[in-house]
Amino acid sequence: MKRILVIGSAGQIGSELTLEIRKIWGNENVIASDVCSNPSQKLQESGPYESLNILDRPRMEEIVRHYAIDGIVNLAAILSANGEKNPLKAWDVNMNGLINVLECAREHKMSQVLTPSSIAAFGPGTPLNNTPQETVLRPTTMYGVTKVAGELLGNYYVQKFGLDVRGLRYPGIISNETLPGGGTTDYAVAIYYDAVKYGKYTCFVREDTMLPMMYMPDCLKATLDLMQADFSKLKHHGDFNVAAMSFTVKEQADSIRKYIPGFEVTYEPDYRQAIADSWPRSIDDSAAREEWGWKPAYDLDAMTQDMLKVLKAKHAKGLI
Ligand code: NAD
Ligand code: SER
Repeated sequence: MKRILVIGSAGQIGSELTLEIRKIWGNENVIASDVCSNPSQKLQESGPYESLNILDRPRMEEIVRHYAIDGIVNLAAILSANGEKNPLKAWDVNMNGLINVLECAREHKMSQVLTPSSIAAFGPGTPLNNTPQETVLRPTTMYGVTKVAGELLGNYYVQKFGLDVRGLRYPGIISNETLPGGGTTDYAVAIYYDAVKYGKYTCFVREDTMLPMMYMPDCLKATLDLMQADFSKLKHHGDFNVAAMSFTVKEQADSIRKYIPGFEVTYEPDYRQAIADSWPRSIDDSAAREEWGWKPAYDLDAMTQDMLKVLKAKHAKGLI
């Protein structure tokens, strides 16, 4: 790829991934875009930035022609918790947005499209532990429905049109740069912020809730590694399981207490408990390991140590 358009670049993952893609492909060759009105200064100052609603196909076309784009990273999405508040919007952005991306890429004979899936593609009936790559995909959220359909659509464009489409089933991503955008795994980020700011946290899922999670440096590495993998060696395309760690909220709180001893957590489960309960506890990512060498670096304690160090420094400067 020579020129990449990142759509949804101002979100939790895009605000960091876009900067990493720029380091590899060059600042001027990576065009950040989003519908949001206040993208970070880093995003706007480190390279080109364009306002783009993924549902606006003519505007997408204009940007693709103007910059001679030959690859798209599609991060625009409505996540699980917000998706349950507005399911039709989740369908519209996640599916019609993806169709716009795939059609634009097909018409312009682009080199690659990367569009992430999620552990939300799984649902009741999927094995909960060490969930296999090939398994039952019957999600109960609209977000999950769009992720399964998105995987199938990506694989269809590979088979039917020979388009290079790649994607990973990200677990819950934990980071300290941009807050998550309305998902079920948001608690695993909020717990660190509230530990640093208030020494206590009220969690919206039960303490025994266990989900697969990943620290942002591993998420960036997984994404960049898959983007640069040899397409001819991939047996899977839009649906790679990727894992790093799994823990309960209680285990995460205990990890935080090693550095903030008096940290307290109370539990007030809401509608997001049912979503969490429908997702796997741990993931088998051997296909990603075999096909493109995936290997995570961070476990729970290493992540906790780093998250608290960064957030304490931000808190001391009044940034959070
Ligand atoms: P996010 O909600 O933080 O960011 C999404 C971005 O898309 C936002 O900046 C938003 O403004 C933008 N957006 C929304 N509607 C748009 C539209 N109509 N046109 C253009 N942009 C629009 O999400 P994220 O966490 O950065 O997720 C990125 C991708 O990774 C998504 O496909 C998501 O499903 C997937 N994913 C994320 C996680 C996670 O834990 N963060 C886990 C699994 C999968
Ligand atoms: N973090 C995402 C969510 O909770 C998982 O895809 O919606």
